[in-house]
Amino acid sequence: MSFFKLTIRDVPLDHQTVLVRVDYNVPLASDGSISDDFRIKASLPTLNYLLERGCKLVLISHLGRPEGKDKKLSLEPVALRLAQLLKRDVRFVSETIGDKVYQAVKRAPGSSITVLENLRFYAEEEADDQEFAKKIAKASGARYFVQDGFGVVHRAHASTHAITFFLPSVAGLLLEREYSTITSAMESPKRPFMAVIGGAKVSDKIPVIERFIDKADKLIIGGAIANTFLAYKGINVGASKIETDQYPVIDRIYDMARQKAGDKVDEFIILPTDLAVAKQASADVERRVVDLGSVESDDLALDIGDKSIEKMITELKPARTVIWNGTLGYAELPAFAHGSARLALALATQTETMSIIGGGDTADFALKWDSNSGASFSHISTGGGAGLELMAGDKLPGVESLLDARKQIEYTNSKHK
Ligand code: 3PG
Repeated sequence: MSFFKLTIRDVPLDHQTVLVRVDYNVPLASDGSISDDFRIKASLPTLNYLLERGCKLVLISHLGRPEGKDKKLSLEPVALRLAQLLKRDVRFVSETIGDKVYQAVKRAPGSSITVLENLRFYAEEEADDQEFAKKIAKASGARYFVQDGFGVVHRAHASTHAITFFLPSVAGLLLEREYSTITSAMESPKRPFMAVIGGAKVSDKIPVIERFIDKADKLIIGGAIANTFLAYKGINVGASKIETDQYPVIDRIYDMARQKAGDKVDEFIILPTDLAVAKQASADVERRVVDLGSVESDDLALDIGDKSIEKMITELKPARTVIWNGTLGYAELPAFAHGSARLALALATQTETMSIIGGGDTADFALKWDSNSGASFSHISTGGGAGLELMAGDKLPGVESLLDARKQIEYTNSKHK
């Protein structure tokens, strides 16, 4: 399936100044250091492609959700990490718009990188303000805008939407890969196609669960979400937090699933058959596995149980495409990471299976688990919310606003008439 937007491969940007929107919203440790540089590494193919073509790069990103200028959320340490990864100089300007930026970019040579300060230091960024976008375009002196921040394209902000009114705008290689991989898996997967959904809240995952009911051959549900599903079915989950307000939604989900699977609905939506519980969620507690029906009133269900793990792995064996979104337990605690770790192992060893790992917590878990830096899976997404919205079939403003690939084909054809 070819990508429907122009990419950096389609436009003559050799030796041009190029403004690149990346998603360097990286997790920071309590001392302010970068605790995970996955998103920075994921941007390197696009940056290298442009540097090899002599482009002068101006990078923009947000970091966190600052209210005004907050030094703790400066992108300067990110620029330093990028320099280490690329093994070359990276310039940093402590402004995002204005003359200081303009002069710094003007002075920079070809094949250089200048990182600008956090876009969200300006309220205009999230307001999708056109004047602000125009100022960024002007200060950068760029000839093209490249959108490569997949993690943020579900937001209509100045750097994902308004900016495209001022510069010819195309996709970077990461955006293209993320979009094409996830869309192809949803639209034309190799079957059997299975979805594994976990995480904390049903309410976060409703649109994506509904889409999987339509598209997937089976759904495996774990994590805290499974507790709500079990409680909905009248099963005692002790003191586990559940979302009773989501029962009408689960009613609808089962109605949809019954239309597809009839009376085999419980083979289509697979829930845990046992649970790993503890009296509290802390590092010193023991993992106690109990069958459904034996959960005590003060137990917290913190992972799927061992029989559920075996069942899940057996179910996944024939799958040729698996999308996994949401950890299957309280995976920050090793005792309750068993379900997620066994799932990661199954996917990593099923080499015939296209394995797509959703961003956010699932990506964090898979990357920490994998001694192969994520290469054990077909694709680990850099996008949390963006990935979920794409899987749910939503249009993403930061992608929609890029130049349409068909336009170029039409243009090229008319030129040759
Ligand atoms: C993310 O981390 O999901 C993206 O960078 C978007 O960040 P936001 O949720 O603060 O808009």
